[in-house]
Formats: sequence, C-alpha cells, structure tokens
Amino acid sequence: MEPESFFTKNTKAALKHDPPGEWMPPVPDHSIPLNAGYPAHSLVPYEEMNEAVKDLIEEEKDLPFQYLGSKKVNTVKKFVRERLAERGVVLLEKEILVTAGAIQGIDLIARTFIDRDTWIVVESPSYMEGLETFRNYTDHYITVPIDENGMQTEELEKTLKDRKEKNLPMPKLVYTIPSFHNPSGTTMSIDRRRHLLELASEFDFLIIEDDAYGELYFGERPTPIKAMDSGSRVFYIGSFSKIVAPGLRVGYVAARSDLLEPLAWFKKDLGHPFAEATLGSYLSQTDMKKRFEMLRKVYQQNCKTLISSLEKYMGDIATWKNPSGGYFVWVHVPGVDTSKILNEAMQAGVAYVPGKHFFVHEQEGLSYLRLSFSYVSREEMVTAVEKLSQVIKKHIDQ
Ligand SMILES: Cc1ncc(COP(=O)(O)O)c(C=O)c1O
Repeated sequence: MEPESFFTKNTKAALKHDPPGEWMPPVPDHSIPLNAGYPAHSLVPYEEMNEAVKDLIEEEKDLPFQYLGSKKVNTVKKFVRERLAERGVVLLEKEILVTAGAIQGIDLIARTFIDRDTWIVVESPSYMEGLETFRNYTDHYITVPIDENGMQTEELEKTLKDRKEKNLPMPKLVYTIPSFHNPSGTTMSIDRRRHLLELASEFDFLIIEDDAYGELYFGERPTPIKAMDSGSRVFYIGSFSKIVAPGLRVGYVAARSDLLEPLAWFKKDLGHPFAEATLGSYLSQTDMKKRFEMLRKVYQQNCKTLISSLEKYMGDIATWKNPSGGYFVWVHVPGVDTSKILNEAMQAGVAYVPGKHFFVHEQEGLSYLRLSFSYVSREEMVTAVEKLSQVIKKHIDQ
C-alpha cells in the first residue's frame, strides 16, 4: 500500500515542506528559552482561572461540558465587540467568529480563499506559523520587505503595477501583522495602513490583519487597519493567547458576514466550548483594562532590560530596532548564519529562533535571529544575552 496514492493533491503538495514546528529543535533544560513567544509564568492568571472554572461549574453544572451548552461563550464575543469598538472597529455580532486560536482563523481563511494556484502577499519576514499554514494551500508568494514603519506598501504597489502590466497572476490576499510585528517588532505607520487599503481596492484583494499583539503597546496605541476599512476588505484576527493564556486556544476573526460565513462550513464545532466558557467566566470577573495596563508595564520593562543587555553585550556585533510593543526584538548579526550556531548557543545556555524560518526565501534571513522578552525573568535575559554574545563573537572572529 502506497500512502501517497491516497493523499489529495493539496496534501501531497503540503507534505513537500518541513513538518510543522520543525523550525525549532527541542531546547535543553539548562538553556534560557529566549525563543519562546509565550506569556511569562507569572502573567498567566491561573488562580483567577481556577475561580472562574469553579464558579462556572457551580452555576451551570453540566452545561459547559455540552457541545455548545454554556451561555458564557457569548461573553467572549461581547467582550471582543466592546473592546474593538473602543479601538474604532464597530462590528455586528454576526461579523465575529470565535476560533481555536488566531491560527485556526488563519487556517480557515486560507482553506476558504486559497487554491493551489492562488497568489498571496506576505511580509518579509513574517510569522513562521502563519507561513507554515499558508504553505498547506499554496506555494505562490509575493513578498514585501519591512522597514521601521512596517510593510513597505510603496514596494507592494510597484510590484502589483508591474504584474498587472505583464499580465501575471494577481494576489487575492495580503497577510500582514501591522502592530508589533512577529518577528521584527515593527509597527506599520498610519499612512501605510491607508495606502494598503487603497491598494486593496485598486487591485481587488482582501487583507488579513493579524493583531495578536495589538493590546500590548508601550506608547501610542495603533489604529487597526480594520478601523479604516470602509470597503470591508479586512479580516481582523485577534487572540487571547498573549493577553490571557495560549493553552485556552481562543482567538477570533472579524469580517463582513458574507466573507466570514463560509469559514463556519469548515470550522463546524471544532472550537473549544469549555475553554470559551471558562474564558467568558474569567472575563466577566476581571477588570481587563487594568490587566492590559499591567501587562504593558511589565512587558515594556522586560523589553528595556533586553535592549540594555543587547547594548551592553552585543552593541559592537549586532543591530536591532527598539519595538514599541509586543513580545520580540529582531536582531541582525551581519556575517553569521544564525541557524548554524543555534545548537552551540543552546549548549552554552541560550535559545533563540533563527531568522531564516521567518522568510519565504530562507537565505534572506540567515543573519537574523528573534529574541523574546515575554517569557523569561529579567535576570535570565541578561545572562542569556551575555552567553549569546560569547557564542556569536567566536564565530565572527573565525
Ligand atoms: C502574529 C501571530 N499571530 C498569531 C499567533 C497565534 O495565536 P494563537 O495562539 O491565538 O493561535 C501568534 C503566536 O505566536 C503570532 O505571533
């Protein structure tokens, strides 16, 4: 029996790529995981969740364990609607689909809108699991570079005009992480956000705005692209992973209902009603504005520590941009292939994500690496950066 012969064309094409998660080998216990894009242990509200679960079960008995039994799942949608309205995104209830994490939202959009011959636009670099998901559906990418003001929409415009002139296939979707980008930490300027919307209308494409880090700003709060989306071309994707707990697997997609509805054909009931009800119970007991303020303060301070460690230990060998929110600092180490020295760095006690995994064309990212300031303690961060600098210096000196 040849398993291959049973796979769909799509599966065969998808399986030509690396398996999911292949980009990060196991991190040894003694290594400080600056690779991890997780919330810090102390910032996961497990005690409050304990209360939320107890109250939920006391109040509703078996209901949260039924397929769609608990009314508390509606609290999640209500929270999303109210919070997004404060950020300028006014939505009807039918314009929100709660998903099993942001990543299910990305997957459902991809399944619904991408054929194997569909072209899509991604930023260069981009979120590696987003890329992994899109690769399950297509291998046709237009990549747009990022600078300190986010996606270079002027470059996108040039590319689109050029493709149109040459009668080349035009993209159907643009995937962007406009605020506190993973991995680059950059934020798209308001002018470019407007420009992207203009291009969407001129060249007739849809936009996926992945705003997983949108609440975690250190200074100015960015305006979501969706808030300016008068043509209803934007799928806005949000997540509770970075602001409450990733293991709940709760996120959402917001879009005009006729674009959103088909996603439900594929989602069916493959969400997490118990996790959603627990989150609903937690949200109704928590002052989330206060929580967001607390998270911003802690992450901003963490970020300062990471940046000052980089200045102290790597100022002469690397460059980086100071992020104004999110979880990550994107470091450029000219002349070093960061994927080749990862094992040595992990043996020396520090892990990071090699830059190449964030690129469609991997060679563009060889001399980059992503560090996270969300997960480990500030003391560990300083130690980790010192260790990393020692490993890198050995390779620069050679
Ligand atoms: C840009 C971006 N989008 C989506 C996700 C995944 O979110 P979720 O845990 O809700 O699937 C992440 C997590 O790292 C992310 O960085």
